Amino acid sequence: MNIGIDKIAFHIPKYYMDIVDFAKARNVESDKFTIGLGQKNMSVNDRSQDIVTLGAIAASKILTKEDKEQIDMVIVGTETGIDQSKAAAVYIKSLLNINDYTRCIEIKQACYGATAALWYAISHISLNPESKVLVVASDIAKYGLNTAGESTQGAGAVAMLISKDPKILNVKNNYVSCTNDVMDFYRPNDSIYALVDGKLSKDMYLDCLNKVYTKYIQKYGKKEYSAMLFHIPYPKLGKKGLDMIEGNNEKLSENFEKSILYNSNIGNLYTGSLFLSLISLLENADLNENENIALYSYGSGAVAEFFEASLVKDYKKHLLKDMHISMLNNREKISVKEYEKMFFENLDKDVEYKNISNEKIYLSGIFDNKRKYVSDINE
Ligand code: CAA
Repeated sequence: MNIGIDKIAFHIPKYYMDIVDFAKARNVESDKFTIGLGQKNMSVNDRSQDIVTLGAIAASKILTKEDKEQIDMVIVGTETGIDQSKAAAVYIKSLLNINDYTRCIEIKQACYGATAALWYAISHISLNPESKVLVVASDIAKYGLNTAGESTQGAGAVAMLISKDPKILNVKNNYVSCTNDVMDFYRPNDSIYALVDGKLSKDMYLDCLNKVYTKYIQKYGKKEYSAMLFHIPYPKLGKKGLDMIEGNNEKLSENFEKSILYNSNIGNLYTGSLFLSLISLLENADLNENENIALYSYGSGAVAEFFEASLVKDYKKHLLKDMHISMLNNREKISVKEYEKMFFENLDKDVEYKNISNEKIYLSGIFDNKRKYVSDINE
């Protein structure tokens, strides 16, 4: 049975900051961020947007009324959760009016969380072929003002509907994963921001890639791929990974550039970044049905995985390219000062906030320690 991605969409905040403006404000040569990291712009959320609103809006773009009746599981992969106990998936299920006979959970292992969610969904469908699973990868990547990681922040969500006989991508049951217990990036319970050892994190990303890819070849043999996708904390690291394992491969390099078009304009989405890169590839590269693509997922801490998928006939007809391009083109650029205020603004408790970005789902405040979301989705 073929199982994989039947529908896929992303949602990002309305505001962004130009990375060149940011470099100037921090007295850094802009080439460091544009060439050294490969970044152009960074998405900036306002305080009425969180992983639930971003994830729910992303999912609302792909789900029909029928899907909402057929879904029996919602899984959110995130490493910027809003509650230590209640899963973000519960809020998303409720905001989207998905039927009550649905299992809702959240999965955590840094940026690998959404890949774990994808595999859980696939396992579930292999046992229950008629079921559909909503997988949401939603994060706000925030390191704090004047930190080394500040240039690699971002915000947004990717939503995927997983089913049998998918219309976009068949995920193959070939994979190699590995776990290395390292402290390259982590967020202790008492810290609002992730703590990161930048150099160690880059080294671990590449070491784990080498480890899973070498084992993958031993297990399945060396294969030809039309494209290789990577977790993209910033585009240059993915390119380093590609060059490390494939040398200077023209076709793979060309398609890599297509796969980072969206990421370089949005920033790091943590759990969503590999799947944003997938959307960018599918919507902008010229690939044919049955072509194979490889995917590298990396979540600090660290869990990594190399796996494989193939394109379904007429997959292009089922993408939301126009919607995504229009969302990217209609964003509002903000200054570095505005970013500093907006991105780091605290949400005071028991205060009613406005729908700053005019979204169809927003967080209106936290009252009596309970988050209150407002949605104009009726179906
Ligand atoms: N022109 C061109 N290139 C320049 C340049 C210039 N003027 N100045 C510097 N550069 C290059 C550097 O040579 C370097 O390239 P290499 O990596 O090829 O050596 C690159 O720009 C970045 O420079 P530095 O390493 O000196 O930058 P930094 O110390 O300020 O930190 C960072 C970079 C470690 C990525 C930091 O932004 C960070 O900590 N980010 C968060 C952590 C992260 O993204 N880690 C990635 C792996 S972990 C992961 O993947 C999980 C996740 O999502 C977080």
